Amino acid sequence: MGSGPPGSLLLLLLSSLLLVSNTVKCATGESSFIIDTVGLSILPKDNVQSGTEVKIRCDARVSSSNISQLGYLFEFMRDGVEIHTANTTEDSTYYEINPARAVDSGNYQCKVSVKNKRKFSNTKTLDVKGLQTPILHLNNSTPYESEEFKVTCSAPDEKGSLTFNFYKTFRDGQPQRIKKQRSTNNFLETTVTLSHIGDCFLSCDYEIILVSGPTSSNVSNEIQVKVKELNIVPYMTILPNDIYEPDIIEVTCKVQIHLADIEIFLLKDRAVLNRTTGKPLIHRFRPKPTDSGELICKTEWRNVQKENYKTLKVKEVFSKPQLHLEPVDVFEGERFRLNCSVKVFFPQMFDPKTLKYHLYKDGTQLISSATYVAVADRNRNGIYSCKVEGTRISTSFHKESETVTVKAKVPVSDPVLNVVGGKIFVGKGFQLICHSHTGTFPIVYTLFTHNGKKMIRKL
Ligand SMILES: *[C@@H]1O[C@H](CO)[C@@H](O)[C@H](O)[C@H]1NC(C)=O
Ligand SMILES: *[C@@H]1O[C@H](CO)[C@@H](O)[C@H](O)[C@H]1NC(C)=O
Ligand SMILES: *[C@@H]1O[C@H](CO)[C@@H](O)[C@H](O)[C@H]1NC(C)=O
Ligand SMILES: *[C@@H]1O[C@H](CO)[C@@H](O)[C@H](O)[C@H]1NC(C)=O
Ligand SMILES: *[C@@H]1O[C@H](CO)[C@@H](O)[C@H](O)[C@H]1NC(C)=O
Ligand SMILES: *[C@@H]1O[C@H](CO)[C@@H](O)[C@H](O)[C@H]1NC(C)=O
Repeated sequence: MGSGPPGSLLLLLLSSLLLVSNTVKCATGESSFIIDTVGLSILPKDNVQSGTEVKIRCDARVSSSNISQLGYLFEFMRDGVEIHTANTTEDSTYYEINPARAVDSGNYQCKVSVKNKRKFSNTKTLDVKGLQTPILHLNNSTPYESEEFKVTCSAPDEKGSLTFNFYKTFRDGQPQRIKKQRSTNNFLETTVTLSHIGDCFLSCDYEIILVSGPTSSNVSNEIQVKVKELNIVPYMTILPNDIYEPDIIEVTCKVQIHLADIEIFLLKDRAVLNRTTGKPLIHRFRPKPTDSGELICKTEWRNVQKENYKTLKVKEVFSKPQLHLEPVDVFEGERFRLNCSVKVFFPQMFDPKTLKYHLYKDGTQLISSATYVAVADRNRNGIYSCKVEGTRISTSFHKESETVTVKAKVPVSDPVLNVVGGKIFVGKGFQLICHSHTGTFPIVYTLFTHNGKKMIRKL
């Protein structure tokens, strides 16, 4: 290892470095200067028309002793925000605004830094008068009703963020604002739609927020727009004219004019049955009588929608089956009869000989027949229904009845009459009970008294 600690050598080196830099500082005489004043002026004047060339000038006056060259850092601020800096050896500089626009209006100030000293100037207000009248462009001056088209409002001479307004004016009417939108540029391209068929005029203007408050431009050129009616009401047919189940029908929806991107919908009870784009819609299906109702053809092109409707009436050739139970109140041990029947409404359109009957008990087929006769007991209790199948033009279709519940009743047994407590006392009230062991409610009890009167209770 060496003779002394390495730290002492480093300390020695550092102190000699300090000595050297101190010598340099004294030699250039850096500390002997003072910034006397900093002045700001606006040229040619602080109140100009838009488009004028404006210079913001900043002058520093510095007193010093034997300093050949000083470096000046100028910082320009508008409304407290730095907008420009300049490093120079001159004691004055300027910030040029060419051409000046309304957005350049504001309170200007500059700051001068020389070495470690700095000084602010006075504040001066620049007021730039006038906003450019905007220019309106449309990409289509004969749009269809509700068709979107492009509108562009621009003020190419302006700077900053502008808020644009678009107006619509009818002949002899007041302008109505139809859109207001902020832009980060000096133009705004957007889309509008007009729904009122006929002529109107479009125009635009813009607003700009200045320190002094919001200002509006003059209104742009007016452009006449002719809004055309769009006849896309669909034409609709349903074939055949008279529809009997289970016919296949054909529904057609089409529009007179050809538009490649028109959409045609066939709707029923807010459900889309079919849809096409740019061509007629032909939809075939087999409706049920319960599908009778309104069929709607709806067209949509861009934002325009039109519709037409026709009533669909599907005639039933035979009714929904009815399942009859006889007698309605069946007692255990008695015969009951279930029969399934339909009404045929149009014998000329449908041959009743094609009808086939099926009876079901608790969901499983019992017999293929219209009637069922049996003796009621617990095992025959259940839920019965029937299905009837018919065939028309080689197509079979079927219908189901509502369910019928068979629940055999138990007959009443011979009644028994008892006295409550088993004894009757002379001069005291007493209670009698008439009672049947078995029997399904309702049960009617009749009590015959000594004087031939009857007392009846229904339970
Ligand atoms: C000014 O500086 C020059 C060279 O840097 C030096 O020769 C001269 O003596 C200085 N004068 C005074 C008054 O310090
Ligand atoms: C101006 O000059 C100084 C010293 O040379 C430097 O530190 C500073 O970064 C410069 N500023 C700009 C904005 O150029
Ligand atoms: C006009 O602009 C709209 C909306 O951007 C566009 O759909 C349409 O095709 C344009 N029309 C023309 C003629 O360029
Ligand atoms: C703005 O409109 C006013 C009043 O119509 C008019 O005097 C002025 O010249 C217009 N300004 C511009 C920039 O066109
Ligand atoms: C739906 O419409 C298209 C176009 O008309 C057609 O080709 C198609 O067969 C239709 N669907 C049905 C189920 O009819
Ligand atoms: C079925 O019952 C109904 C009503 O009781 C009756 O009118 C009809 O004739 C019966 N049909 C058959 C096939 O028994």
